[in-house]
Amino acid sequence: MRSPLIRPLVHQLHAYVPGEQPKIKGLIKLNTNENPYPPSPRVLQAVKAAVDGRLRLYPNPTAQLLREKLAKLHGCGPENIIIGNGSDEVLAMAVRAFVEPVAAEVTRRRSSRQSVQYFHPSYSLYPVLADIHGAAKNAVPLNANFTMPSVAELKRGGLWNFNAALTLVTTPNAPSGRGYPTAGLEKLCRAMKGVVVLDEAYVDFARENAMKLALKYPHVLVARTFSKAYSLCFQRVGYFVGHPELIAALDKIRDSYNVNGLGQVAAVATLEDLKYYRANFRKIISTREELSRALTLLGFRVLPSQTNFILAKPPGKVPPASRRKGERRQDAGGTLTAKDWLQKLREKKILVRWFSQPEVKDYLRITIGTPDEAKALVRAVNAILL
Ligand SMILES: Cc1ncc(COP(=O)(O)O)c(C=O)c1O
Repeated sequence: MRSPLIRPLVHQLHAYVPGEQPKIKGLIKLNTNENPYPPSPRVLQAVKAAVDGRLRLYPNPTAQLLREKLAKLHGCGPENIIIGNGSDEVLAMAVRAFVEPVAAEVTRRRSSRQSVQYFHPSYSLYPVLADIHGAAKNAVPLNANFTMPSVAELKRGGLWNFNAALTLVTTPNAPSGRGYPTAGLEKLCRAMKGVVVLDEAYVDFARENAMKLALKYPHVLVARTFSKAYSLCFQRVGYFVGHPELIAALDKIRDSYNVNGLGQVAAVATLEDLKYYRANFRKIISTREELSRALTLLGFRVLPSQTNFILAKPPGKVPPASRRKGERRQDAGGTLTAKDWLQKLREKKILVRWFSQPEVKDYLRITIGTPDEAKALVRAVNAILL
């Protein structure tokens, strides 16, 4: 029996499913797009130095110092920036600030003001945020190769709602890793009547970013996070850059102390040591390219990536033992689905991510780790293929 104490909407919700965080000794964890390199020594030092009697005090409610530093970095003012408890929180705030819930009991008429729109596949949190808010969802398919349809194609397709209250674009895309040129994003933004969020969680690993659009158009917000490129998942710090009017609206619905004090300290110290992080971006990009080449040689179809992960279709056929070096197995070969690969890699203590949606079910999403982790993955794949 469903408890009448709980709203029917909440009964029907399917919560977001985060990647696993298992504590298996020796596990190579390539499933949640975490950075393989630790925060810079200066950041660790700053966080440690802040752990004292100050923990009894509330943190700065608006993360003022962090917003000032970010404003300098992005060439805008602190009034253009709002910080969240991870970018997930600012995304949730955007849904609450810009989208009307569907008032099921008052009227059945749907309007664009109630619509959260996004491409599919993209970040799987978006539909969950829409559902929590009771908003309408408009998930529009990307092209089959995960490129973004042009405005003309979206118009022809007839599914895209140019009046949607909120459009969320993961750029570069997750889970495909594809980068989207800023020129195409700008055309899309110009065609939209509602708010557009360009979710640039992975942009530090990409060739271009679209920050200038947030400072040019009053209806465009760019979301960034310290989680991926800046090795700070644990501290939960993300932000929006955009027009002061949108930022002020979001600020009204923000929890008073939404960004914890140690998170603020860590993020500020991060911005004072960007050289360290830029060197890490270069290492991750070069590991990504090397791993992509190695997996391609082993029969994987690896999509070009502009992120710190790759989406790769593993070979479905494993050759019979007689054609394999070493002839360690007696079987006549066989077929392996991507889900089988997930399991086989797990048995070899390598954790990657597999999604069940039809568009991506034949792929594995593999986070780029250290060069040694990439080598271990290639060895494990070789062993599975043997
Ligand atoms: C596209 C995208 N946006 C946002 C986030 C959330 O990041 P944060 O840790 O800042 O909440 C993620 C995390 O996986 C992501 O993949």
